[in-house]
Amino acid sequence: MSAKSLDQHFELLHLSGLDEIFLDAESEFDPVPDLEKVKLKYANCRKCSLAENRIKFVYGEGSQSAKLMLIGEAPGAEENISGKPFVGKAGQLLTKMLKAINIERDEVYITNVVKCRPPNNRNPLPAEIDACSEYLDEQLAVIQPELILLLGRVASEALLKQNKTLAEYRKQTHIFKSVKTYVTYHPSALLRNPGWKKFAWIDLQKLRDDFNQL
Ligand code: URA
Repeated sequence: MSAKSLDQHFELLHLSGLDEIFLDAESEFDPVPDLEKVKLKYANCRKCSLAENRIKFVYGEGSQSAKLMLIGEAPGAEENISGKPFVGKAGQLLTKMLKAINIERDEVYITNVVKCRPPNNRNPLPAEIDACSEYLDEQLAVIQPELILLLGRVASEALLKQNKTLAEYRKQTHIFKSVKTYVTYHPSALLRNPGWKKFAWIDLQKLRDDFNQL
């Protein structure tokens, strides 16, 4: 429904006194759903067994008009408690990585392939990735980013499905859901292997050059 016909729709409801009754219709007809509201609908998701040990569903956060979307693997312990993605040590490094290319965290949208913490931070299973994929699909459809940055091999393999190492994935850009997609090291991997930061820096500079063209 176009914005104009949406206005006409509500004007009609108002004139007929039905606007109170149809207040709920707003979300149904909203051409651009507010992801902050949308995420509340999913907070009690039980589509896979990760729900059993979940404290908080970690949907994602950031600007809904972001041109760049970052996709990590899965929430860790601190994200499980706060309900926000990338807030632990890896998240702090991620914020610094963005700052290094002059991008503020609130300019981008940050999420994960799966929205609940896997036990002991194990890799998410294919069935869990599958069960969660409709959330990511919806986030992509609403935000319509112009660039995506995949963080780490698990996210890259889950979405690009090319059975490659991270070093191979980051050699070129990819197209994921019609969006130009970069791959770089997961910040947790960089914390464990600081020597890899120089490679991540190369990736980030390329991403920055593209981002600055938008
Ligand atoms: N690692 C991830 O992949 N995502 C988070 O949100 C935190 C750590």
